[in-house]
Amino acid sequence: MGIGHTRWATHGKPTELNAHPHSSMNAHVVHNGIIENYGELKKEFSENKFLSQTDTEVMVHLFDKFFEETKDSFQAFEKVIESVDGAYAILLITEKDDGKIFFAKKGSPLQIGTEKGEVFFASSDAPLIGLASEAIYLEDNTYGYVTIDEIKVFENGQETTFVKKALATSKFTAQKEGFTFFMEKEIYEQTNVLNDTILGRVDSEKVLFDEIDDDFFVGIEDITICACGTSYHAGLTASYLFGRLAKVKTTVEIASEFRYKDPVLRQNELFVVISQSGETADTLEALKMAKKAGLKTLAICNVDNSSIVRESDATLLTRAGIEKGVASTKAFSAQVTVLWLLALYVGQVKNRISLEDLKKEIKAIGKIKDVTKVDENLRNRIHRLSKRYLHGHGFFFIGRDLFFPLALEGALKLKEISYLHAEGYPSGEMKHGPIALVDSELFTIALMPETLLYDKTRSNVEELSARDSTICAITPTDFDLADDLIKTAKTNHPMLEFFEMMIVVQILSMEISIRLGNDVDMPRNLAKSVTVE
Ligand code: AGP
Repeated sequence: MGIGHTRWATHGKPTELNAHPHSSMNAHVVHNGIIENYGELKKEFSENKFLSQTDTEVMVHLFDKFFEETKDSFQAFEKVIESVDGAYAILLITEKDDGKIFFAKKGSPLQIGTEKGEVFFASSDAPLIGLASEAIYLEDNTYGYVTIDEIKVFENGQETTFVKKALATSKFTAQKEGFTFFMEKEIYEQTNVLNDTILGRVDSEKVLFDEIDDDFFVGIEDITICACGTSYHAGLTASYLFGRLAKVKTTVEIASEFRYKDPVLRQNELFVVISQSGETADTLEALKMAKKAGLKTLAICNVDNSSIVRESDATLLTRAGIEKGVASTKAFSAQVTVLWLLALYVGQVKNRISLEDLKKEIKAIGKIKDVTKVDENLRNRIHRLSKRYLHGHGFFFIGRDLFFPLALEGALKLKEISYLHAEGYPSGEMKHGPIALVDSELFTIALMPETLLYDKTRSNVEELSARDSTICAITPTDFDLADDLIKTAKTNHPMLEFFEMMIVVQILSMEISIRLGNDVDMPRNLAKSVTVE
């Protein structure tokens, strides 16, 4: 029997002392989440009891205190849970009750995996696949204990029932398959992944979603999308698509902001959350708020059975397979693909898109597979160019319209894995401030699609070039003012240009990161899923 937790502490520096488990005389604990009242709780004990700077450690000292009072380990654990506020997935073991693992869940993900003669805890399916055949997805505010023979789940002092669900058996998609990095593999596999994302969801003149009832959009006038990071960028992209293709007003919110702004929520809006992991704490809490306000909810998610999927009224799975690289690539393109399909679906059910346009869009969707295939010549060119972009005082990724969210995403990718300062901007914003930073050491990565506002973007890039910025243009057209040009293939649809340029910015950030000798898959200070706020 053992417990462990691979993440560094949320409080205090990432040192060994602050890493879990934390121990006291009688107990050892691991915890994902934040104990908000730990400062208050700590006051009961003398400062020299604490070895770490974490919020977590207070729980083992509380356990000792309550065990002293009750002489019963389960009662002591229950009292610990009653005392703490915040979000948590907790596992605790004690010498006083050998063979038992105590657990509690509120806000942070926790599930139990079972196999004959073995019991596991994890925060998602991925680590359990191959070890356990069934899983129990714990609800918030439940706690209890497991032994090798029994699993006991409680809520509000009463024992409660639980359901076991079958777990996937194949872990095939989580191998590097000959690539050096997971991120690299995930960039390359997008062509196949996106095919899976689309599979069965379109015929030549219709978008089909088995997961949504025909009347799902009845009474829905507006859409609010809520997400974090890359998923937020997919949401921003979708807001242009929903406006154009379905004529639906769409607001996009960063989940951590949305939660505390006292948002105005109306019954005629659909609340869409986007999340690769399905466990992002801010997105999950925003979803709960929307549900509480009585809104219809829809999740775009990559992980079935995740907390966000379980909480939503309906889910469209992105089918990207397990994404291991911390910097999201295939999950982003799969989100955008689902959202593009969804925009068409809404246009279709609300009769806001002509059959002719719908057919054109569907035809373009059929070509995603081709434009996301990594061309080795392009990869080599980016590899060679990347050596010129390892320094400088910053990067501007710029684009207009659909290419603004892609500029944000390109900048996020670069900063995550290269640790260079990069910002994404709408091209038209340059003269409203950012242009003041421009000199030859400021690198502009210009997204210049031919099919959407080319001339406008071009004149914005000219302004930057006139101030001596080093310009790397990503475009299918020749452009004299570019210091470097990464040529994309010509297409007839902005979304196809979007996907082509997405591949370029993903590879560019990866090549820069590799040259800088960074850990591409596990960049410093970041975690794959952010289950604390
Ligand atoms: C993407 O590269 C990031 N690692 C990060 O921004 C991520 O997209 C964000 O934390 C949201 O995660 P989610 O999609 O799992 O909710």
